[in-house]
Amino acid sequence: MKGLDPDRHHAADAWAQDVLAKMTLSEKIGQLNQVSEDSASAALVEAVAAGRVGSVLNVVDPTEIDALQAAAGESRLGIPLLVGRDVVHGFEVMAPIPLGLAATWNPAKVEEFCTLTAAAARSRGINWTFAPMLDVCRDPRWGRIAEGFGEDAWLTSVMAGAFVRGLQASPEESLLACPKHFAGYGASESGLDYNRTYISDIELFNVYFPPFAAAFDAGAMTVMPSFSDVNGQPGAGNQRLLKTFLRDQLGFSGVIVSDWAALAELPIHGVAEDGKEAAQLGLNAGVHIDMMSGLYERFVAELVDEDPENLAQLDALVLEILTVKHLAGLHEPQKKKSMEPAIDALLHSATELASESCVLLTNEGGTLPIMNRSDSLAVIGPLADQREEQLGTWSFDADPEVSVSILEALKARWQGSLMDSAGLSHSRGVDEGGIQEAAGIAAKAAQTVLVLGEEAILSGEAHCRSRLDLPGDQIRLLNAVADAAEKLIVVILAGRPLELADAVDHADAVLFCFHPGSGTGPAVADLLLGDSGPSGRLPVTLPRSVGQVPIYYGRGHTGRPPLQGEVQFLDDIPIGAKQYSTGNTAYHLDVDPSPLFPFGFGKSYTEFHYDQLAVSVAGTGQTLTISIEVSVTNIGDRSGIETVQLYLRDPVARVARPVRELKAFEKVMLAPEESRRVEFKLGIKDLAYHDGRSWFVEPGRFEWFVGSDSTARLSCRMDLDASQIGDEPLGDQTNSY
Ligand code: NOJ
Repeated sequence: MKGLDPDRHHAADAWAQDVLAKMTLSEKIGQLNQVSEDSASAALVEAVAAGRVGSVLNVVDPTEIDALQAAAGESRLGIPLLVGRDVVHGFEVMAPIPLGLAATWNPAKVEEFCTLTAAAARSRGINWTFAPMLDVCRDPRWGRIAEGFGEDAWLTSVMAGAFVRGLQASPEESLLACPKHFAGYGASESGLDYNRTYISDIELFNVYFPPFAAAFDAGAMTVMPSFSDVNGQPGAGNQRLLKTFLRDQLGFSGVIVSDWAALAELPIHGVAEDGKEAAQLGLNAGVHIDMMSGLYERFVAELVDEDPENLAQLDALVLEILTVKHLAGLHEPQKKKSMEPAIDALLHSATELASESCVLLTNEGGTLPIMNRSDSLAVIGPLADQREEQLGTWSFDADPEVSVSILEALKARWQGSLMDSAGLSHSRGVDEGGIQEAAGIAAKAAQTVLVLGEEAILSGEAHCRSRLDLPGDQIRLLNAVADAAEKLIVVILAGRPLELADAVDHADAVLFCFHPGSGTGPAVADLLLGDSGPSGRLPVTLPRSVGQVPIYYGRGHTGRPPLQGEVQFLDDIPIGAKQYSTGNTAYHLDVDPSPLFPFGFGKSYTEFHYDQLAVSVAGTGQTLTISIEVSVTNIGDRSGIETVQLYLRDPVARVARPVRELKAFEKVMLAPEESRRVEFKLGIKDLAYHDGRSWFVEPGRFEWFVGSDSTARLSCRMDLDASQIGDEPLGDQTNSY
């Protein structure tokens, strides 16, 4: 396992070898078998005691977990159970959904929350979580975009490392991490869950694998393949993906757990005749644990009987499972501690993350922060007072009682008169008379806060949409309230990027929040009232229209980019125009080719100025050091946090490279008029790309862009010759996270 102390590894291996030597065939198969139940039923306890189950998922009651571990302890060899649960962005206390965590651009705080939440879940007896979800996604129709860290491989990699380090911080109070879904699941065709993907090796290595490499570097010992097929082979049976790439090239030597019944889906995909062949494909691909299909339990004995190779493969898989169990410390007596003391710390951490995850999109004439809290305020919208909906997907262990809504928090802080109305019964609601009532309330208030978006159930697994509009009658509500309101502040709570042109047109300010979790109310209220300042930055591009999807900043070059001011839109084309009248460039006739808001974008309550960008290069090959420095100045009259972003462009390469790639960022807090010199240090690996066979860096020109988002204009260039690059191989890994 990467980065592990060799002594620890040696002890784990010795224990695993010893146990394996004593195991019967049935006990070996049991280690491969994972069962989901929500309680320790008599049948499950019996199966565990007989060594027929090596791991469980979805049992959360500590007493039930104790009963199961006791049964495992009393089994012939006393092998402890892996107890899994989807602790994806919190347990009882929820942080923002992972897309929101990415919007914080604050890996240190994400790591801190993961440590706390792991301790909370571990105190129940859970010892394994199926997280972090590392599927780079460029299609917001896909409901699972909520669970990942957005469109960018590098930002996802940074978050991957933070998440894994946080979850696995201390052996006794941690959860084993399980990065998922290897790999490319986020590229599911048409943003439809479980759909197939076709991804070139170049794209796999440059975009989809790096976050997993970062998670393994940080110590992740388990991984879950994706449901979807990658180039014709579903994840759970994909030998090229799981052996050639995952094991041989990324160097993973831990445990692969299939996704839920994914082995049983191999015949449905059309790559296996039946369950027995599916089990064989799973073994061949090196899938250790069968989550819930029961196929290993049913067929592995028969497969071993038919082919001794299968016994060797079974032994290898069991050995690795046992090693991971030992490395996770499960063979030692488990310490229990109460959840209570951590609740405050968890809420504090979740609320800080919620605050840093909210992205201020517009703020006309300094509408925000609201300066006079003794005035009259209208709080409207179907999501203004929804403790549960604001938690987002994967919140089934959350305690709604510790979640505070925006309305509740504003009521606690507002000193003037406050009126409220949901306007619609829920985000998909249609006008039930509430719209007129809401508009009436807005008309009487000096300020109106309108909270729109999506309920939690509209994103997450299997919750894909073909449209990105505000559901139900929300646009009607928006129009009516906008007509009536003196000052309109729109807050969006959603699980994915939405089309927000209407909100931007109608509102004086728009704050976009990816379901921010238990701390939503205090976080949003403090931002609106100026007790904190917005610092969230978009981890995904916001499209103008769903028809632009996939739209992402790191796209490839086209030979015919659209030129600003030279594109002709549908309504401007003269009747009977000739074929070439639009100039033949890459744009849609009916929408501006730019996004509504670019990746990395987010406003503050102040402005920042960038200048004096300089690059210098020292050393050669593996010792090459690139220093990029820039001065950032707060030119407004409030303190604020800026996220300084560095992008690379490799303009000429053997394989066309993306228009830009994020390579580093730093959050800096600056007082009014304060200036800071920010320095980024990069190495040879940060320049590398994979051409489908290996990593390399080509001599020539490199361009750097520094600024507030992915459209940053301040740039400088450097030229590297072959001697500076050197000829040492770059290895399997690219970037340093
Ligand atoms: C299916 C999901 O795809 C996966 O992400 C999750 O971990 C498992 N179910 C277990 O709940």
